[in-house]
Amino acid sequence: MSEGAAADTVTGRATAVSGALAQFTAEERAQVLALRRALHVAPELSWQEHGTQRTLRAALEAAGITAIREVAGTGLVATIPGTDPTAPIIALRGDIDALPIAEETGLPFASTHPGVMHACGHDLHAAWTVAAGILLAKAPAPGTVHLVLQPAEEVGEGAARMLASGALDGVRAIFGGHVDWRFPVGEVVATDGAIAASTDTFEVVFHGRGGHGARPQDARDPIVALAAFVMEVQTLVSRRLDPGLPGVVSVTIAEAGSAANVIPERARVAGTIRATTPAARTLLCDGVRAVAESVAALHGVRAECTLSEGTPPLLNAPVAAACARAAVREVMGESALTALPTANMGGEDFAFYTERMPGCFLRIGTLGEGRSAAGVHTPRFDPDETALFIGGAVLAACARVASAPGSVFTTGTVR
Ligand code: NI
Repeated sequence: MSEGAAADTVTGRATAVSGALAQFTAEERAQVLALRRALHVAPELSWQEHGTQRTLRAALEAAGITAIREVAGTGLVATIPGTDPTAPIIALRGDIDALPIAEETGLPFASTHPGVMHACGHDLHAAWTVAAGILLAKAPAPGTVHLVLQPAEEVGEGAARMLASGALDGVRAIFGGHVDWRFPVGEVVATDGAIAASTDTFEVVFHGRGGHGARPQDARDPIVALAAFVMEVQTLVSRRLDPGLPGVVSVTIAEAGSAANVIPERARVAGTIRATTPAARTLLCDGVRAVAESVAALHGVRAECTLSEGTPPLLNAPVAAACARAAVREVMGESALTALPTANMGGEDFAFYTERMPGCFLRIGTLGEGRSAAGVHTPRFDPDETALFIGGAVLAACARVASAPGSVFTTGTVR
């Protein structure tokens, strides 16, 4: 990129950022910033977000939003009525839980809860969802909007519990987003299709017959089966999966044995399986089981294979992603839109919502000028707080666009 083009990019981002900031009054910006810092200083782990829930309720009430329900224990759903009772209901979701990490940012509002930190930016997600509520309370969307403040994303359980509560029944489309330290502030990803991977895990225990290390003929060695499994399972991605689709099978635990002259009775492996389509997910999960059973048969041992379902692949519905891009253009201009350079193989439990209804999950740039580029889930993660106003303004605009007259969500069933 030439120097001139680089300068244009920086100017474009500044214009995009000011578009989002301009939606808020100085007082509202101060409220949102204070809320984010109040959440950051007192982070809570999944399913323990009691103080977080109280802080968020108080912030919503201060913004004049009073239709608030406690859902899934530590979650909240706050409702802002729309101007048109026939317009579709839209949900905006922010997750609220923190991670078991000891913070090392040295920020004045660093965590005061030992060993717990908002290291994944869920403090920003919660605060920008409230920020969207502030804008929508001032100038309601055509459709009623549910602000979904969801606990326990980090353990992949909160979204499913929110759905099971029935609090999202009748919602026609859902929007949410995640901070992304790889993109500068002012850039937003709102693309169609896969935006996060499935996160299933497997465990295989090979049951053999132990014996003296000097007499393998009298034993059935589970370690040889384990070794064969670790190598053979690599062929699922390299030989079975369409090379055009990303996928991962990682063995992350392998353990067996206790003495150099003893063949053990058992050997255990475990790992993670990532895929970006439901069919690829099935292929890899079925494949892991088939490889385990085949190598067990080959080596005369028994495989006990357990697959644990994690979050599904997160697929942005093209109709919802189109609304989200329109919202970004409206608030920040076309230049704010960008794309992931490669597939994201991380997981996100927003995928449970998009299994049930059309939705779009955004990635919102948080890399500020001259700031640390420490990634999420690290003790020095320090996102640029300007992203709060981008998330808030864009999500509010998503609700307006998706429930506007003539929106694809106002007629028929879309998926
Ligand atoms: Ni996260």
